[in-house]
Amino acid sequence: MANAPREQWSSRTGFVLAAVGSAVGLGNMWRFSYLTAEYGGAAFLVLYLGVTLMVGLPVMLAELTLGRGSQRSPVRALQHYGGAAWGPLGAVFVAAGFVILSYYSVIAGWTVRYALSALFSGFGGDTVARFNDVSVGWDAVGFHFAFMLATVWIVAGGVKGGIERTAIVLMPLLFLLVVGLAIYASRLPGAGPGYAYYLEADFDAILSWKVLTHAAGQAFFSLSLGMGAMLTYASYLGRDAHLPNESLIIAGADVGVAFLAGLVVFPLIFALGLSGAVIGTAGTEADIGNVGALFITLPGAFAEMGAAGRWVGTLFFAVLIVGALTSAISLLEVVVSAAMDGLGWGRTRAAWLSAAAMATLGIPAAFNIEVLDVMDKVASNLFLLGGALGLSLFVGWRMQDPVAEVTLGTDGVRWFFLWRMLLRFVVPAVLVFVLVQAVPDTLAAVAGLFGG
Ligand code: PHE
Repeated sequence: MANAPREQWSSRTGFVLAAVGSAVGLGNMWRFSYLTAEYGGAAFLVLYLGVTLMVGLPVMLAELTLGRGSQRSPVRALQHYGGAAWGPLGAVFVAAGFVILSYYSVIAGWTVRYALSALFSGFGGDTVARFNDVSVGWDAVGFHFAFMLATVWIVAGGVKGGIERTAIVLMPLLFLLVVGLAIYASRLPGAGPGYAYYLEADFDAILSWKVLTHAAGQAFFSLSLGMGAMLTYASYLGRDAHLPNESLIIAGADVGVAFLAGLVVFPLIFALGLSGAVIGTAGTEADIGNVGALFITLPGAFAEMGAAGRWVGTLFFAVLIVGALTSAISLLEVVVSAAMDGLGWGRTRAAWLSAAAMATLGIPAAFNIEVLDVMDKVASNLFLLGGALGLSLFVGWRMQDPVAEVTLGTDGVRWFFLWRMLLRFVVPAVLVFVLVQAVPDTLAAVAGLFGG
């Protein structure tokens, strides 16, 4: 173990903003709105909220408890409470952070590129062709590297001086921008049909198991759960933090921003009479799945809005960049803290070496969008859901008296037994069910990549 005393957040607000920064990211902006539209609008929303409350929140609290209690990075935290046999689960977390940041940074690179286009040239021309240019090839590699560089520079600055300082400046800005964009969008002529498409309930769809799988996958990805990001951030917390309250704030902010992002995206798409079909068509035409909703349809809408589209587009992509950056630093921090704890490296060395490795692993994703898609599926469906299952079993059954740890900083026990029951029975049951659905699909996607 490193000799230096463990770093700490300078304030509760600093921690909360950093954790919200981790949660709010690319997942909220496009994945959420797309899935909502695809799987029954308000019905999906209800299911998603249910999963977040019953499954996401207990796991969030479990991660905060493990991190704050052990004051260690994921591998060490699990070994601390569970013995050597649990170390490998922590190693899975670190591997997940590694894989996710590798391709996440590629997508983030696209958003930087789009923001620059919006600012300097606007979005004329064929938006599908533009997407193909931006998303694949050396340009994509270049912006991916640039984004990774910004990420590592912040993380190398330390918990207080890098991560916390960035979150304190950027998160309020992100909030203001999203609210501003939502207000702007509400005055567009397409706001009504946009809202209807987004929020009209199709309660038949809610009954399908596939929807539950997507709602769960989205909840874990969006809340940054199942790979130790929240655990790592909580390991820099003091004993006085009120973990249940922090969990509620983080989850509430994450869901809130996702909801607001939908209020921005759908009116924009419908403002110009682009029909709902555009979302699906753009996606299939370029064979890019969900990614299309954001990077093809919206620039099309911005282009038709003329001059206003330039600055609305710039602000929209600025929001994405900010969200992506504050999420990326949490992904990198998981790997960095593990390398510091496990290998005894200093922060600077750990940050630069792991970022260099991830930048390299991301290169194939920058040359082939199918590789990126498969990395995303493997990471969120296998690593995150599997990791969350391991976490819930660990804190539910293995860890000695997690309730004693979670109660520190609060004024009583009240509903903590309910938390433990959820972790023991409800969360694992839901996750096993979802994994049974997700694993074959994911393996088929991997096989498809190699089998052609
Ligand atoms: N929550 C982030 C988003 O929505 C992604 C992320 C996943 C970050 C896992 C950290 C850990 O974009």
